[in-house]
Amino acid sequence: MARKPFIAGNWKMNMTAESGKALIAELKPLVKEAKCNIALCVPAILIPAMVKAAKGSKIKIGAQNVHWAASGAYTGEISCEQLKEYGVKYAIIGHSERRQYFGETDEGVNKRTLAALENDITPIVCVGETLSERENGETENVLSRQLENGLKSVEDITKVVIAYEPVWAIGTGKTATDEQAQETIKFIRKKLGKLFGVKNANRVVIQYGGSMNAKNCKGLMAQPDIDGGLIGGASLKTDFAIIVNYNK
Ligand code: PGA
Repeated sequence: MARKPFIAGNWKMNMTAESGKALIAELKPLVKEAKCNIALCVPAILIPAMVKAAKGSKIKIGAQNVHWAASGAYTGEISCEQLKEYGVKYAIIGHSERRQYFGETDEGVNKRTLAALENDITPIVCVGETLSERENGETENVLSRQLENGLKSVEDITKVVIAYEPVWAIGTGKTATDEQAQETIKFIRKKLGKLFGVKNANRVVIQYGGSMNAKNCKGLMAQPDIDGGLIGGASLKTDFAIIVNYNK
């Protein structure tokens, strides 16, 4: 079965209800003809307003994190049930900024991923190496560890989206080359094949993320193992629609 391309935006800690609504209103007509799945992962507080703003369009609203517990004393966290109340279908999990600044571990990624799956929220699980890890030839080891530990006990890997985001390419304007991204994502698919079976691995949607923009999206999306993008900076403007329409 062919993998359906999936372009997701990650607004990070940007936008307000007002600017977000205005951007979604601009994007709506521009993404009408798109053939891929589209999501915008917005700050939690904006979810209700953005769900309303995106209604009737191809844009689905996602979260930037989700907690594993159903409810309880977890100040600052958000549960699957709370997301589902607004029809949220996606949650980014284990973004490198969460790992780097907020102590997110592979174990936490795993718990969040399992909870999302149990609640029919598609986890967008982020993996990626830092610059020094790449330079030291550790990329494959780091990715293997993140995948093995982050995806432990996942029953149906085809329900998970993986985002390969080399940390050195995030927000730096330094995109991985088409070949680098393809080669690494091919490795990720091979690793998933070892963990979950080749047939299943071949059905997993794997995105590239890290300074993907209106200019470089075509080349990246043309790679055989790259099925989509996780877009930071360029998702804060109408360039996002150009990326969504990469095949035009
Ligand atoms: P960027 O961010 O596109 O701004 O590099 C990507 C991401 O962190 O998901």
